[in-house]
Amino acid sequence: MIDIHCHILPQIDDGSDSLETSLAMAKALLASGIDEVIATPHLPGLSLVPLKREVIANRYELLSAAIKREGLPLKLHMSAEHNLDPLILQDVASYIVPFGVPGEEALLIELPWTEVAKERLSAMIFELQSLGYTLVLAHPERSPGYSLEWLSERVSAGGFFLQIEASSLGGYYGKKAQTRVRELIDNHLAHLAASDSHDVTMCAEFGATIAALKKELGEKAVKKLLEDNPRALLTGKSADITAI
Ligand SMILES: [Fe+2]
Repeated sequence: MIDIHCHILPQIDDGSDSLETSLAMAKALLASGIDEVIATPHLPGLSLVPLKREVIANRYELLSAAIKREGLPLKLHMSAEHNLDPLILQDVASYIVPFGVPGEEALLIELPWTEVAKERLSAMIFELQSLGYTLVLAHPERSPGYSLEWLSERVSAGGFFLQIEASSLGGYYGKKAQTRVRELIDNHLAHLAASDSHDVTMCAEFGATIAALKKELGEKAVKKLLEDNPRALLTGKSADITAI
């Protein structure tokens, strides 16, 4: 299975605090049944000095080498969780780190918690799609300001997919997110699921979360959320992606 949203790179954001923690996260993900991870640190992030692609590349190389050294059968991809920040479009080379195959790449976009930025987000979605990127919107169930109608419109327009947090259905992010994720699933607006892990505990609990998801949604749906659709993004076949 593939985890497309994970803060596993060391000392770069509010995720892993060291290379040792990153390796422990890698081992916990493997034990949870994940063998492929897309590293997605916040970009440009929330600190005063914006994070740039070159720093992500540095930490990615560092962790990749350590994973190889330890002989862990975990495939690591480099990407980012892009904030809604005008900087992204001002300097694409520094602040956009897509994943997938050239010409068919995908971007993970963090949805703001409130709806105040809705128009800005719509404009940004349009510009990023114009640049040729397939967009994946992270955890819409945690941003109640964005209506199902608004999300549905974007999905219907194409090249735009929704990633739910695997743990939302079990209530990890509270009752509102739990109700909301159920609505997204019932309205066929869930395309991908991820751990969004920030520490070892989250990675270690991912196995149990996946088992609970299978019980609730069935094996076939979980395969789509954690294997088939992530694989389609990585191989430039996003046209094959359908919701559960
Ligand atoms: Fe995240």
